[in-house]
Amino acid sequence: MPHRFPLAIRLLHWTMALLIIAMLFIGAAMVSTASPAYASLIALHRPLGIAILLLAALRLVLRFATGAPPLPADLPRVQQRAARGAHILLYLAMIGLPLIGWAMLSAGGYPVRLTAGFVLPPIVPRDALAYGLLRQTHGLIAFAFFALILGHLTVALIHRFVRRDGVLETMGFARAAALDPELAEPEEADEPEVEPAETPGP
Ligand code: HEM
Ligand code: HEM
Repeated sequence: MPHRFPLAIRLLHWTMALLIIAMLFIGAAMVSTASPAYASLIALHRPLGIAILLLAALRLVLRFATGAPPLPADLPRVQQRAARGAHILLYLAMIGLPLIGWAMLSAGGYPVRLTAGFVLPPIVPRDALAYGLLRQTHGLIAFAFFALILGHLTVALIHRFVRRDGVLETMGFARAAALDPELAEPEEADEPEVEPAETPGP
């Protein structure tokens, strides 16, 4: 069994964590401003949100293809199940929230513009009621996502500083030797000294 997630998954995990946290703050700033900054914030919010959707899809494919390191065997079953459930919810939010954002703008009849010349097609028909519902759902799920991330962060820190069981390190970049000395590459066996060949005398 591997001792940590494959490099591609670890890189995706931390890149996406930064993007998602930035997006939560961009979203909150967007809805609490009436200044001209709104236009720049939403122009950033749409393409970043769609990038998160694509990265989440790629991450799920990689995750199914490569599996995950096992949780510590002494972790109670209920906590193993809770971890699994929380991870599934995190994946659902990473995929669902951007899709709801896209659907919300489609229902409102707003273009989902990613760059000046690139607009995504609508994914639901125009409907004012649906727009209102999706707008509320987007806000509620974003809030729940934030709470879930805080819980996830807390549990990760408990693993690191209370249980000290190596779970945080499965998502980290420390050298294998620092995780578990037994994983260290075996030291190169010293080459036997080769005696210089005797040069025949003149
Ligand atoms: C992981 C991705 C996303 C996150 C974390 C996120 C987060 C947020 C948050 C926190 C808000 C403020 C909600 C509130 O207080 O009611 C918001 C609003 C909004 N989001 Fe997202 N969002 C994401 C993806 C998207 C996408 C992909 C789109 C569209 C393509 C989108 C469009 C919007 C719009 C239009 C608003 C409302 C702006 C307003 O009413 O003034 N979001 N988002
Ligand atoms: C936006 C923020 C974050 C999201 C969406 C997120 C999402 C996820 C998901 C979905 C997994 C499950 C991986 C899998 O089995 O495929 C995971 C694992 C993990 N995450 Fe996060 N994460 C975030 C932030 C953080 C932070 C801030 C930390 C720690 C400081 C952290 C530490 C970990 C660790 C240690 C694992 C492996 C745990 C295990 O295998 O049970 N994550 N994360």
